[in-house]
Amino acid sequence: MFSEMRLRRLRSNENLRRLVRETQWSQDNLLYPIFVVPGNGVRQEIPSMPGIYKLSVDQVIREVQEVAEFRIPGVLLFFQPHTKDAKGSEAYCDQGVVQQAIRAIKSQLLHVLVATDVCLCAYTTQGHCGLVDKNQIVNDATLEVLAKIATSHAHAGADLISPSDMMDGRVAAIRSSLDEQGFSNLPIMAYSAKFSSSFYGPFRDAQGSTPQFGDRRSYQLDPANGREALREIDLDISEGADIVMVKPALPYLDVISRAKDITDLPIAAYQVSGEYAMLKAAAQKQWLDEEKVILESLQSIRRAGASIIITYFAKEAARLLTR
Ligand code: PBG
Repeated sequence: MFSEMRLRRLRSNENLRRLVRETQWSQDNLLYPIFVVPGNGVRQEIPSMPGIYKLSVDQVIREVQEVAEFRIPGVLLFFQPHTKDAKGSEAYCDQGVVQQAIRAIKSQLLHVLVATDVCLCAYTTQGHCGLVDKNQIVNDATLEVLAKIATSHAHAGADLISPSDMMDGRVAAIRSSLDEQGFSNLPIMAYSAKFSSSFYGPFRDAQGSTPQFGDRRSYQLDPANGREALREIDLDISEGADIVMVKPALPYLDVISRAKDITDLPIAAYQVSGEYAMLKAAAQKQWLDEEKVILESLQSIRRAGASIIITYFAKEAARLLTR
């Protein structure tokens, strides 16, 4: 027997659809990642990420102004040092390119939150997220360095500290150093459930941060493991994270949704470089409608439970949402 309930009734026109729409989001939910490089006047497009550039500080300031005009609340900065070394020492040097860049951007007094990535992979010759000894990534010695990087960003004026290294205990180490140095009000957005994903390829090409030996599977999560991802999230919360992140986003929507069930903390999700690249490439071939897939993919991340979405489409999405 055909049921009396006809779900199509509420889909019959756009005003009804607006009234029953379950997922609401806006540019308020977005963070825009930016690649900062040394030099002046540098604006170099990343081949596998059309429309995304490596920028020197002067250009970053223009970009951040644009982000402010779009009313996007913040940017997430990734840096490249002048020179890499075994210990990644440029990452925490007080007068380093990174710290000067943060100061220069903050000195513009733009109404944009400056989040900074805390990790070693872009600063070390071996390209791993931690220090290396005899081809092993050493955990506890790395924590000290990560804490130094985080406090150097704090002194330079960062608004949100975002560790992406996946070492055990790093949130606690960073929290206690920040507190000791007078930054007890500075929040931490932890990359808590960061998977060992092949969707980071374009980012690594851009950052020159591909590991020089082995891979990241001894510290990043196995893509097969949803329950272990929840344990990582739990641990980061107990160590003092203010925001927890799931990364990548689209292949891990189930993890975002399960994270929502276990915590009331805000959840961030990172639509990573490979997710951007595949949508962009298909759009360029006119195999997909770019504007529609941008909005659909971001909405699905929001629907799964993320309140912060880090995406290279942030400016484009803000334009589409406010037109
Ligand atoms: C560094 C880091 C990576 C990304 C963000 N921070 C790469 C990696 O872990 O190799 C990936 C971001 C992206 O792909 O857009 N630890």
